[in-house]
Amino acid sequence: MTAPGKPEGMTALRGTVVTCRDDPFLGDPDRALAVEIDGIVLCRDGVIEAVGPASELLGSMPSGADVVDYSGCLIAPGFIDTHVHYVQTEIVASYGTQLLDWLDRYAFPAELAFEDPAHAATMARVFCDELLRNGTTTALVFCAVYPQSVEALFAEAERRGMRVIAGKVLMDRNAPEKLRDTAQQGYDASKALIARWHGRGRCLYAITPRFAGTSTPAQLDAAGALWREHPDVFVHTHIAENRREIDWTADLFPERKNYLDIYDHHGLIGRRAVLAHGVHLSEDEICRCHESGTALAHCPTSNLFLGSGLFRIAAMKDARRPVHVGLGTDIGGGTSFSLLATMGAAYQVAQLNGRPLRAVEAFYLATLGGARALALDDRIGSIAPGHEADLVVLDPHATPLLALRDARSESIEDTLFALMMLGDDRAVRATYVAGKPAHPRDA
Ligand code: GUN
Ligand code: ZN
Repeated sequence: MTAPGKPEGMTALRGTVVTCRDDPFLGDPDRALAVEIDGIVLCRDGVIEAVGPASELLGSMPSGADVVDYSGCLIAPGFIDTHVHYVQTEIVASYGTQLLDWLDRYAFPAELAFEDPAHAATMARVFCDELLRNGTTTALVFCAVYPQSVEALFAEAERRGMRVIAGKVLMDRNAPEKLRDTAQQGYDASKALIARWHGRGRCLYAITPRFAGTSTPAQLDAAGALWREHPDVFVHTHIAENRREIDWTADLFPERKNYLDIYDHHGLIGRRAVLAHGVHLSEDEICRCHESGTALAHCPTSNLFLGSGLFRIAAMKDARRPVHVGLGTDIGGGTSFSLLATMGAAYQVAQLNGRPLRAVEAFYLATLGGARALALDDRIGSIAPGHEADLVVLDPHATPLLALRDARSESIEDTLFALMMLGDDRAVRATYVAGKPAHPRDA
């Protein structure tokens, strides 16, 4: 029930508003972050209507509008996870293997269970709860090979009004028989899911070949043909994550000049194609990503956990040929649903590469950079009028240690740094999806 006098569909949040106005890797990082210390974000019907200083906006608010007071907290754009597997939620933190053995031992058995729609529905609920608990409002998601696993996730996302991009995995070789489709079945099932879900509510479809090694050239051809028929959907796959994977893939596709060339040859790179990892990409491949507008999902907790290697963020953002990069949790290869923890891991990986990541850079990757990687920056990733009202409220005093550390913060960027190094779901005071509270921590 709306209280008498309270305008329908309206929410106002008060706190310190932080949003990126530009790419700090390419422009002046000191100017990339817009901060309103005592700000208001006014949302109406799921969209941000106004943002600005409380001293200006409070006087012009519609009468009866409630203002939720988050003073002392940061109000940021909802986080964007550009690579995650909902069907691997249960196997997070599974011990002892690197990529190819980890797939056989943990990932494939977990995905087999998603033939059962009831299991898929249960896990879709758990997964969306975890996203929202961590302040993630948009995710690009791998499902399993079974169309019903996609149905379950989209149904859950639609119920919650979340912006979820997902797709059925395509795998017609080098996987357990019950996890394989054929080029034709994969094409037909993906096409039917596009017709049913792409653009419904806030759901969007991604054509999802697992990686080159589990698809025949015929299946990659079919995936490319499907993208040409539906150029507004996404392509989502993996690339150059692990040395053994790369050698194995080169043996499977001896006629292609490098890993990216496999996807390129089959018409699977370009804007709205997102490739997870890219840890071991060559200079030629990076240049081709730049030229084609292909995005990479940097998944640092996964790359550390699976021992895959160190992603070179500075090289990817080289101003001579910058690549779109977002952050991915890559659950279950990754170890946390938290984009804060993922930002913290990205910092540590960057340190091992000899160049620390600034907090504003990490924050960009988790918000506006992710939105740009997905070509959705006209709608998400910023706090700006006309953008979808997906927001996360971060509490710099969420734990005793955070509070102790934040007392020494010298700037909002320093507060963000403390949050990304020490924070996780405990630091998410609230998450708003389309202007509505979707995870009040203290409820
Ligand atoms: N490469 C192909 N499949 C997968 C997967 O499920 N997880 C990760 N991390 N890499 C992959
Ligand atoms: Zn992955």
